[in-house]
Amino acid sequence: MGAINAVTDLSVEDGIAIITINNPPVNALGHAVRDGIVKAMHQADADPAVKAVVLICEGRTFHAGADITEFGKPPVAPWLPEVVVEIENVSKPTVAAIHGTALGGGLEVALGCHYRVAVPSAKCGLPEVHLGLLPGAGGTQRLPRIVGPEKALEMVTSGAHIDAKTANAAGLIDEIVPEGTLRASAIAFAKKVAAEKRTLKKVRDINDKVEAARGKPELFADFRKANARKFRGFLAPEYNIRTIEAAVNLPFDEGMKVERTLFQELMGGVQSAAQRYVFFAEREVWKIPDVPSDTPTLPIAKVGIIGAGTMGGGIAMNFANAGIPVTIVETKQEALERGLGVIRKNYETTAKRGKLKPEDVEKRMGLLTGTLELEKLADCDLVIEAVFENMDVKKDVFGKLDKIVKQGAILASNTSYLDVNEIARATKRPEWVLGLHFFSPANVMRLLEVVRGEQTSKQVVATAMQLAKKIGKIGVLVGVCHGFVGNRMLAARQAQAQAMLMEGAMPWDVDKPLYDFGMPMGPFAMGDLAGLDIGWSKETSKSSTVREVLCEMDRRGQKTGAGFYDYDEQRNAKPSPVTEKIIKDFAAKAGVKPRQISEQEILERCIYPMINEGAKILEEKIAIRPSDIDIVWINGYGWPVYRGGPMFYADTVGLATVVAKLKEYGPKLGADFKISPLLEKLAAEGKKFQDLK
Ligand code: 3HC
Ligand code: NAI
Repeated sequence: MGAINAVTDLSVEDGIAIITINNPPVNALGHAVRDGIVKAMHQADADPAVKAVVLICEGRTFHAGADITEFGKPPVAPWLPEVVVEIENVSKPTVAAIHGTALGGGLEVALGCHYRVAVPSAKCGLPEVHLGLLPGAGGTQRLPRIVGPEKALEMVTSGAHIDAKTANAAGLIDEIVPEGTLRASAIAFAKKVAAEKRTLKKVRDINDKVEAARGKPELFADFRKANARKFRGFLAPEYNIRTIEAAVNLPFDEGMKVERTLFQELMGGVQSAAQRYVFFAEREVWKIPDVPSDTPTLPIAKVGIIGAGTMGGGIAMNFANAGIPVTIVETKQEALERGLGVIRKNYETTAKRGKLKPEDVEKRMGLLTGTLELEKLADCDLVIEAVFENMDVKKDVFGKLDKIVKQGAILASNTSYLDVNEIARATKRPEWVLGLHFFSPANVMRLLEVVRGEQTSKQVVATAMQLAKKIGKIGVLVGVCHGFVGNRMLAARQAQAQAMLMEGAMPWDVDKPLYDFGMPMGPFAMGDLAGLDIGWSKETSKSSTVREVLCEMDRRGQKTGAGFYDYDEQRNAKPSPVTEKIIKDFAAKAGVKPRQISEQEILERCIYPMINEGAKILEEKIAIRPSDIDIVWINGYGWPVYRGGPMFYADTVGLATVVAKLKEYGPKLGADFKISPLLEKLAAEGKKFQDLK
């Protein structure tokens, strides 16, 4: 009794063995934990004084899964599936005592026990799908035996965490015990079941729910159909479905073999490698080498926003959602009312969909105050400017803010492209100024580029990053340059997309390979969605580009029913003969003979220049690390997670291949195109972006 190993303790109280695991931060099932559980279970089983066993974890949570840092390394016995079988074979009642999150391998371990008890705040889930995997320790075969195949399908393909109450209703948790009493309650529960001397049933032998679904292939066909859009491009959801099919149609041991084969296939594939990389990238992004995590931050209790347009309104919602009061400033009453009206409509639509309580609409609107007076921002802790994208206008606003807003407040600009240092110089406190670049729609998109100026203080940076987290964004710290990380790389792609129109490709020809690659849409469909008239004005339009001509014809994108594409009532896009003619006329005027451009060329010419731009961004230290660039593209532009972001993707293609292709395309990429020296160097050395540590 006592310590089994460094992370496992075994004690016996009143006939109940208590195995306690302590492996911070999340009790991941690394080798020592697996070994400890098996040894402790064997000891408890062999001890005649023990009547039942409780498995419980110290710290913030029950096992949150297999240890992801061990993935990709040679496995060391005992493997997790074997651990679960060892638990299952214990001859006395075993009880998993759950708090925090029992996830992945953690829930699989719990499914090896005869019983599961949990506190009300506990959550259960099989989130492996988010790592491009499936539960590989019997979860796919045991879970449907308890909750039924429908619920299991939903859980393994969504990776959702379900709360203790739902888990209890589904049969996954046998008893919910009072918060704060887990240890004592689990022991009491163990004593009770030991005293009842019930016949112990292993989950693997509970077959009624899977048998009931046998011979009903439509269950799976319907599920696939209903989720086809959501699963597009991903391998893991389909593989997860196949394992549940196996649970329904095959005996347990055969189903386990299917699980093993499919798990290993996913684990060895590039999609899971990408998704695991993203898991760690999302956590690394918060770490800023020269701003330690204990840097003091400033309290943000009141926010001011200037401009109630497309962005200002969305930005305001983020703060209202987090319970932070916001004052919004506009120049005209009409613009203010329109802006606040859009916000209200947004909240009401969410409420109609049942995703917000009606009383919360008023609560959130109550946190928003509109005004035409900049002076009302005097006592704000943070002011975010979201006025027109014009340097003179922005400098004027910042000059005024400098005089009005209290000292010690943060002054931020939502500019997409402009020089944040120049904006900061319009004030006498540039160390308090930075960019907070939200993405549209600002209340929905997760990305926030936190733009650090030359003089922005560390405290301001730390506060902005913390605030990003608080309002549910993923903050990426970037430096000042035209377009920062996301839009600067986007520009490299747009330049090629435009160029290819003049060489003979139509917008839909360019969009298709990018959509097939996994992007939500191609560059031209994206233009139509955003509106082709952003930054366009009738007065200055000179019919000098395809876009200008389209705008002049009032083909300004989806909102006018036509842009590059024609749109029907349901906003379905169709290739447009009008656009085709405009493009052909331009090409003819330029004396270009149209050629057929292969899908491969389109894809490579759109993506490789972006990668090249990403390399320049790293050279210039605009981004801290390659994975931060990937986080920008995944969360700001819908880059497919299963391809890990542009920099990770480049590594999978091979940097030498990327360089060779860029050289092959040569002059087609434009007279100003230059290969990044960093990219060339890494390629020549046979290295990857991921080697830049
Ligand atoms: N393995 C290794 N490290 C893990 C881990 C895991 N399963 N889960 C979390 N961590 C690490 C994180 O990397 C982070 O490390 P850091 O502090 O050095 O950056 C630390 O634990 C804390 O994690 P979070 O910052 O994410 O903490 P939160 O409190 O926000 O969230 C959590 C906790 C909900 C448990 C979240 O970490 C999470 O979702 N973890 C992953 C769960 C998961 O995917 N489990 C399945 C694993 S695959 C599996 O089990 C395969 C099996 O079927 C065979
Ligand atoms: P918008 O034109 O929809 O809104 C701007 C609003 O600012 C207008 O309502 C206008 O009346 C108001 N305004 C102008 N000058 C003002 C002043 N001095 N005081 C108070 N209000 C003033 O523009 P949008 O799209 O919201 O853009 C705002 C900023 O956000 C720009 O810098 C833009 O580059 C940036 N941005 C835009 C994105 C987009 O997709 N629209 C995405 C990310 C950033």
